[in-house]
Formats: sequence, structure tokens, C-alpha cells
Amino acid sequence: MMDIESFVSFCKRRGFVYQNSEIYGGFAGFYDYGPIGVEILRNIKNEWWNSIIHQNEEIVGIEGTLITHPKVWKASGHTDEFIDYISECKKCGQSFRADHLILDKTGKKVEGMKSSDLNGLIKKENIKCPTCKGELKNSVEFNLMFKTQIGPGKGETSYLRPETAQLIYLNFKNILDTTRLKIPFGIAQIGKAFRNEISPRNFLFRMREFQQMEMQYFVSEKDADKYFEKWKKSRLKWYKEIGINNKKIRTVEHTKKELAHYAKKAIDIEYKFDFGWKEIEGVHNRGDWDLKQHQKFSNQKLDYFDEKTKKRYIPWIIETSAGLDRIFLAVLMDSYKEETVKGRKRIVLKLHPKIAPYKAAVFPLVKKDRLPKKAKEIYKKIKECFPAFYDEKGSIGKMYRRMDEIGTCYCVTVDHQTLEDNTVTIRERDTMKQKRIDVENITKEIYKNLYS
Ligand code: ATP
Ligand code: GLY
Repeated sequence: MMDIESFVSFCKRRGFVYQNSEIYGGFAGFYDYGPIGVEILRNIKNEWWNSIIHQNEEIVGIEGTLITHPKVWKASGHTDEFIDYISECKKCGQSFRADHLILDKTGKKVEGMKSSDLNGLIKKENIKCPTCKGELKNSVEFNLMFKTQIGPGKGETSYLRPETAQLIYLNFKNILDTTRLKIPFGIAQIGKAFRNEISPRNFLFRMREFQQMEMQYFVSEKDADKYFEKWKKSRLKWYKEIGINNKKIRTVEHTKKELAHYAKKAIDIEYKFDFGWKEIEGVHNRGDWDLKQHQKFSNQKLDYFDEKTKKRYIPWIIETSAGLDRIFLAVLMDSYKEETVKGRKRIVLKLHPKIAPYKAAVFPLVKKDRLPKKAKEIYKKIKECFPAFYDEKGSIGKMYRRMDEIGTCYCVTVDHQTLEDNTVTIRERDTMKQKRIDVENITKEIYKNLYS
């Protein structure tokens, strides 16, 4: 267990994640990924894209815009329904998310509760401002979408998308018309989403700008339950495949009260973070809500013609909606280990090889005797096959340590013997076991171990 502040500073020190606008004092709810973090993020995205799109011939990808026609958000229900409740402190003026105040004080989850009920509970539980213990005002509605003006002058008001899903519904007809997909089929997308969270917290867990990896699977009403179960299972399997400890993953079904305005059924996939069990992905049966709404608001037919039954219908949608940043955080916390080796602390990220930023690092044992030249030749050969890292700054011990902390799978050390017989030592990250192998076999050896 590590407190979140220590984890944030570890992430900064090793180039995973930086506070956004740090030189200006930071900007709450926004983070930037650094050179190592961005590699891990990209690997998670690739694994998702591969498992959803490349492994399923009936699923295709799109990349939609961040800003869309304002009517989209009216039709989707976000303009009217995408709200949280703010409680403001009478004394210090700070604002808090009302349901989180109750959760923090009583442990009771109160998602879906209306303002008056929340206010009643805050009074009954005698909940005060967490910062100054002042009295709280009655909570009020707050829409989480970021508004933006389009065009010069007064322009038109629209919003930054709070979910990527709507872009998929907007392109449903285009995809039907331009591909030969038949129901059941899916459309998937990875991209930014924006929510004006009242109190961003827990590092990457609750941000105001984040990334979603969403897939919408279009089915007939009668098959909706079947595909809901199929996708739930498939998504749980994926977490195992990217190396997350299964014991730290669970599913929790939403009660009727907790269901979002569009959902008929929903489960959260939760990860046991150091700060508690929290949602990293939702699997939702959205029924025919979205396409029906867009058909109504756009006056365009968004139905599907079933050639077998010769009937038209609006498809139902099974959605898998994963938060990339939350998964990144889960992957990092899950793989972070502190061990004692020969009386000294070793920090190691036991990342799954597919997710590790570098598959190998190459070092010369000393910075002389033509060893750096030979090491660079070997590095060049490896990086043609895998992302690799070259280092010659510091002792071998220090270089191993740096690589362990960013999860590099193998360290290859070039020494004087290499110049004589073309062999190197290769050290495996988790076991720290070393063996000597021929330079010609390095990439084969790494490949065999990574993907076996
Ligand atoms: P929460 O209840 O924690 O606010 P949510 O139920 O609003 O989450 P969804 O609307 O189902 O979340 O969004 C789908 C996914 O998008 C979530 O499972 C999560 O991984 C991600 N997500 C949502 N809000 C944020 C956020 N503020 N920061 C980072 N990721 C987020
Ligand atoms: N697309 C589902 C969500 O963001 O809630």
C-alpha cells in the first residue's frame, strides 16, 4: 500500500506523469503523460484496439471530433441530465460533490439521489465542510459538460464531448451505408472526453480531461442480454491478458436508482486501488435510447433493415466504456512492487511484457575499451524489433535499478568477453536471473519470453 502523494511523486520522478501547467502552480484535474508514461499508455491502447477491432472482423474503428453539433447533446440527454450536485461551504466558499461528501463520511454510495434527498442526508449525518468544518449550503444541480463558443462574435454554444460514444451513434448510418456490416456489429473509438468534475481527485482517477476506449455493439432486442453477458466476460478476460491481478477485479451491478438516464442494465468493472474499489469500466445495455433519440432530433431514419425477416428496427446497443487513464493507474499500481534484495530496497514494476515501455535495455559494462561502440551496435539491432533503451550513465547496479523502476523486461550487458566471443549477459527483470547468450540470439530470446 502506498499513499497517493508518494505514488504521484514516483510517477513524476520516473517520467510517467506530470501535473499539468506545473510551472504555473498546476491546474486541478489535468495531467500530462511523460516520456515513459506515454509509451505505457500507447501499449494499453494498442492492446485494447487489437483485442476489440483486429480480433473481431465485425467491429470497425472511427475517430470522431471532440466538438459536435449542440443538438447532439440535447438528443443524448446530456444537456438536461448530465448533472452532479454541488454543496458549497457557507464559511470558506469551497464547493464539493454532495454525494461524495456522504460517501466519505458514511461509506454509503448514493448515486442517482436527487438534491432534496442528498440535502436531507447531509443534515441527518451532520456533514460539514471537509476543509474548514463550516456549514454547507443546500446542494444545487451542476452540468458537467464544458461549454464552448463556436465561430466569431456570439457564435453558437456547443460542448466538449463528455463521452466518445455519441460520435459513434452519429456515424451509425455512414458505417451501415459504406461497409457491408450486418447486425450484430460494432464500432469502436479511443479518444478524449471532458467533464467539468466538481472535485477532481485521486490523481488520474478523476480528471477533467481524460481518455475513453469505447465500443458500441449493435444488436437486435432479443439478443441484447446474450451480448451483454458475452462482452462482460470478454472485457474481464482482457484485464487478465494485460496482466492485472484477477483478485483485484470485480463487477458490481447498478441498482435501478443508479442507472444512467440511457441505461437498461449496467455493470461496473472495478479495480481495488490503494484508495478503495473503484470503477474503471462500465458495460451497459443502452437499449434503443440513443438511436431513437437521434432519429427524433435529426429527422433522419436510423433504423436497420433485416434481410432475413424483411423487417426494419432500431438496433439495441451494448456498450463497453473503459477509462484509459484509470486503467493506466490500475496497471501501474498493480505492477508496483517493493522488494528487499541483499538488504537493499528494490522498486520494480512487474508490468506485463506487452505493456512494458521498453522490452530491453543495453549497457556497456564500462565506458571504455570499445564497449560502448559494441553496445550501441547491439542496441541498434534490438530496437529494430522492439522498443529498447540505451544507457551508459552510472554503475551497472544503478542502471539495473532505473530499468526495474520503469518495468524494462530485460537488461543486456556488454562486457570484455563480448568482444572476444560475441556473447552478452541478459538479466530478467522479475527474477533478476542472468545468463550468457550469443548476440545473434538476443532478439529471438526476448521474443520467445515476451510472447510465449
Ligand atoms: P464515476 O461514477 O466514477 O464518476 P462514471 O460512472 O461517471 O464514473 P462513466 O460515465 O460510466 O463513469 O464513464 C465511463 C468510463 O470513463 C469510466 O468507467 C471511467 O473509467 C472513465 N471516466 C469517467 N469519468 C472520468 C474522470 N473524471 N476521469 C477519468 N476517467 C473517467
Ligand atoms: N459512454 C458511457 C459513458 O461515458 O458514461
